[in-house]
Amino acid sequence: MKQVGKSPIKVLIADDMAATRENLKKLLSFDGGFVVAGEAENGKEAVALAKRLKPDIVLMDINMPVMGGIEATRVISVEMAMTTAVVIVSVQGEQEYLKEAMAAGARGYLVKPFSADELVSTIRRTHDMEIQRRAQLMPSIPLGKKLGRIISVFSAKGGVGKTVIAVNLAAELGKKKDCKVALVDLDLQFGDVAIMLDTSPVRTIADIAREEEVDSEIVEACLLAHSTGIRVLASPLRPEQAESVTDRHVAAVLGLLAESYDFVIVDLSQRLDDISLTGLDMADTILLVATTELPAIKNAKVCLEIMESLGYESSKIKLALSKPSREHGLDINEIEKTLKRKVDVHIPNEERVVSPSVSKGTPFVISNPGAKVSLAIRDLVKAVNPQSEGNTVSKKAFKGQKPTSHKKSAGIFASIFSMFVNG
Ligand SMILES: Nc1ncnc2c1ncn2[C@@H]1O[C@H](COP(=O)(O)OP(=O)(O)O)[C@@H](O)[C@H]1O
Ligand SMILES: [Mg+2]
Repeated sequence: MKQVGKSPIKVLIADDMAATRENLKKLLSFDGGFVVAGEAENGKEAVALAKRLKPDIVLMDINMPVMGGIEATRVISVEMAMTTAVVIVSVQGEQEYLKEAMAAGARGYLVKPFSADELVSTIRRTHDMEIQRRAQLMPSIPLGKKLGRIISVFSAKGGVGKTVIAVNLAAELGKKKDCKVALVDLDLQFGDVAIMLDTSPVRTIADIAREEEVDSEIVEACLLAHSTGIRVLASPLRPEQAESVTDRHVAAVLGLLAESYDFVIVDLSQRLDDISLTGLDMADTILLVATTELPAIKNAKVCLEIMESLGYESSKIKLALSKPSREHGLDINEIEKTLKRKVDVHIPNEERVVSPSVSKGTPFVISNPGAKVSLAIRDLVKAVNPQSEGNTVSKKAFKGQKPTSHKKSAGIFASIFSMFVNG
């Protein structure tokens, strides 16, 4: 995998004394490996900023007004256990507080006065240990048993037809004899898969996230059997429930589904966050969807660049142009030149067929299999499935195929992200 450069450790400084914050900032600036993402004057502000900025490390003073450092540490270490670690900064003679802080979940401590070297090495050591601890907590994905192909549908723009494609692709694959298909809605806040299939899920991925350990029985119990024969894992019923679902859950769910389904189709949100990144990482094929409109092409270009920097093979990505508009859209040649790649599949604009299919919740590949747009979905099946007719790659070749390491690219993603955030 290609490295995008080591990502700097993102630090949040929480101290009520402006001079102390300045001093810490200065000490950290001597070393190129840190970026100070924010500063807080009290514990309450530290918690709010930590939730927003998701720093790797919070340097936390103990005695602060409004909310003290120990209470803030307790909140951060419970609510942000997978993203942020607290390093307590105390003065000599505060040993009792220090014990309390460690019990509250602080992962490291510094006793004033300390040198720049001590500061840097404590943050580094704490950060490294945190990464190891989190890796231990990641549910192991049974790689050896992976049989199915994971196909993730993504676009950095909404309304391009991503869900329409995911639903119809799943339904089309489900028509094949003995082909087990699972469709997973990872647009966790505003997923449309269930409604596009005219179903009302009782259980969703949020119910899986509530379990202490994710196993195939739990996943299977949350799947909904659809009349097309496919199984559906719906997104949470309410947007606020989406927060409970982490990339760990997603990795476990996709890994387990790929053990017993021939195809796992994943409809991602338009955000390039940890959830989407896990869906992209674990995919055998990424279907990047764009329309012929300028913003969609601009975003597709950015996505392709990011995917390249994440080390994804170009062959892992298929490009679909959805509902091209002849009158207003960009010319195909222009698009291919801009994106420096060929469009793999053209999904025609066929409102007459797609709109009623969406409104009624019946995939058009079922209700209107002869329509142009349904034929395009069949082309898509060939593009995303190297085992389809005319292709000699045997299914066994995919058995035990190792998905790209999510943890690795998550780190790279963090560095790309911080490049954007910090200029
Ligand atoms: N091929 C198509 N032809 C005509 N209209 C389409 C087509 N694909 C999608 N649409 C319309 O675009 C709307 C948005 O599609 P959707 O799949 O929900 O987008 P996304 O998931 O990318 O946000 C749909 O409600 C549908 O009416
Ligand atoms: Mg959608």
